[in-house]
This record gives sequence, C-alpha cells and structure tokens, in this order.
Amino acid sequence: MKVGFVGWRGMVGSVLMQRMREEHDFDLISPHFFTTSNVGGQAPDIGRVDLAPLADARSIEALQAMDVILTCQGGDYTNEIHPKLRAAGWKGYWIDAASALRMADDAVIVLDPVNREMIDQALAAGTRDFIGSNCTTAIMLMGLGGLFRAGLIEWVSTMTYQAASGGGAQHMRELLTQMGRIHAGVSQLLDDPASSIIDIDRRVAVTLRSDTLPTEHFGAPLAGSLLPWIDRQLDNGQSKEEWKSQAETNKILGTSSTIPVDGLCVRIGAMRCHSHALTIKLKRDVPLDEVEQLIRGANEWVKWVPNERSETLQALTPAAVTGRLDIAVGRVRKLNMGPDYLGAFVCGDQLLWGAAEPLRRMLRILLA
Ligand code: HSE
Repeated sequence: MKVGFVGWRGMVGSVLMQRMREEHDFDLISPHFFTTSNVGGQAPDIGRVDLAPLADARSIEALQAMDVILTCQGGDYTNEIHPKLRAAGWKGYWIDAASALRMADDAVIVLDPVNREMIDQALAAGTRDFIGSNCTTAIMLMGLGGLFRAGLIEWVSTMTYQAASGGGAQHMRELLTQMGRIHAGVSQLLDDPASSIIDIDRRVAVTLRSDTLPTEHFGAPLAGSLLPWIDRQLDNGQSKEEWKSQAETNKILGTSSTIPVDGLCVRIGAMRCHSHALTIKLKRDVPLDEVEQLIRGANEWVKWVPNERSETLQALTPAAVTGRLDIAVGRVRKLNMGPDYLGAFVCGDQLLWGAAEPLRRMLRILLA
C-alpha cells in the first residue's frame, strides 16, 4: 500500500513517526512523504533508504497516486485538499488527526479499542474517511469504555485538567518559559531560608500580572495559574472543547439516544497528559467490584489505580503517565449523592492515545 504522510514534522506527526518506527509499521507499507514547504527535500529518517524526495502536499495529482493519506497537517489543509481530492475521483483512505471532517456523516471517528465494530462495519460499507477523535474525549473513553459498553452510564460530568501540549508545541514552550521567569524573579529569596513566603508570593503575583511573562499563545499566564477556557466560545456558553465531549462520545459509541456528557474544560500546567475528574450517573447501583472489573477489562491499556493515597500519588498523575500508552484510572468510589453516583479520575498522554495512536492503528486495520 502506498501511504502518503502529510504534517509528519509537527508535534503529533513526530509522535506518530516515532510510534510507527517502534511498532515496525513502515515495514508493511510503501511510505511517501509530502510537504507544504520543502518540495524536493529529503524524506525523514525512518530507517529506510528507498524513500523518494518530499512531494508537494498540494499536488492533487501526486496525492491521487496514494492508497492512503495520513495527515497531521491540520484542519485548514484538510478543508482545502480533501474536497478537491474527492472531486477528482480519488477513492483512497483518508486518515486525519484534525477535527475538520470529524462530524461529517460519511466519516468515522477512530478509537478502535472502543469502536472497532463500527470501524469494521464502515469499511465493509465503503467508508473512506477515518478521523482521530478529540484527545480529551479519547482519553475518557479509553478509561471508561467498559462502563459505556455495558450500557451502565446515564450521564457523565467531566471536569478536565488539560496539558499545554493540547494547544501545540509553542504552548509547551510558553508554559516552560513562564515557569522559568516566575522562578527567576524569586530565586534569591528562595535560596534564603529566612526569607518570608509572603514576600516571595507577592513577587510571584507581581510577575504573574506583569507583562514580563510571555502569553502570546495562551493569552494569559498558565504557570502558577490555570485557564478555565479551551478553544473557541460557542453561543450556548460552552467552549468548543466542552461541546466536543458529548458530540464525539456519542458518535464514537454510535448511541441511539444521546448520553449527556458535559463539564468544564480547564488548561493546567501539565506538559502532555490530559486528566478528567468525573462524576458518573449510573443507571443502577453497581457494586464497586463489578465497576472495577468492567473498567479493567475494557482494554489492555487501562492501568487500574486502587483508591489509596500512596498509589494514587505514584500512578495517577501526568508525571507518571507521560510518554506512556497507559490510561490510568483511579479514585473510583461511590459519591455522597447516592449509590448510583460514581467518582473517577482518568489520566492519559494526549499525544499518544489522544492523537497519534488511533491513527497508526487505523492504518494497521487497513493493512490487515
Ligand atoms: N483541543 C485539545 C486541547 C487538543 O486543546 O487540549 C486536541 O484535541
């Protein structure tokens, strides 16, 4: 299969390349690399010497020669190129990280540990557009898939703690620069054990409110703070990120009646792991051991964390999960609201299960 890669140089694309090398995916395909800026340049090092120079990602003719196009280039590229390719009669498979086509009727959102049956049915029915989900939604569904599959969830409220990487590479840099500037402003005082924490804090507050902190990408300080708005503002009071959770959850699960999913999405100073604090309304009082079995049994990546303090601090944090395929699930307990209300916390790497991994797995499904 000729597979054309677009947007492989960016952050999600780089993680995708790394994962594909680790899993030897390139051994099974004929890879072709496209570029929007460096036509004729050298293809990336993926451990192969037989690669053609970079082709033009805007050449419909060159793209048409591909059996599969896998793009992490972004929504503008998808909106520009995908309609032209289809209009030109291209019948190949389009696998995309961007949200542009996600809610289209003839596109399937791919998260195969959760919706493999839907993917297989769509392939059999001739579907050709397979789109990665919103990262936050993917992580929640990977963690709670067992409860959804058992039909036990009446609704979910999800309060998120989202990492800087969700905004992009520049956002991660900005967060670290903010952290550095804040620290630099008080480092001498910190080194002096006799200094007053009130003084230190006052200086930090001055730095946070000054224009010495770079805020070009986040629009406000994130280090030493948090940002309770992610993505665009919608007319109904939700952020676009909040809107996606219900829309995409229900599309991925193929629900016949909508399961309400809502909550507030918050940016925090983590690097690349998104987390959810969840309130789950169960349809009935399900015993906790049954809940545990369902969650653990859903897929091999769920890493169950017992609801104990020390294990939670060791395993249910962005620091523990970052760079790994684990989806940590813990803090599972019944809430004071009643026996059919469950609390849970889910944490996953948003560049892996939230972005690159479902795409490379979709490619594998096509190759099977
Ligand atoms: N929209 C997400 C975020 C990233 O900003 O964290 C990708 O879905």
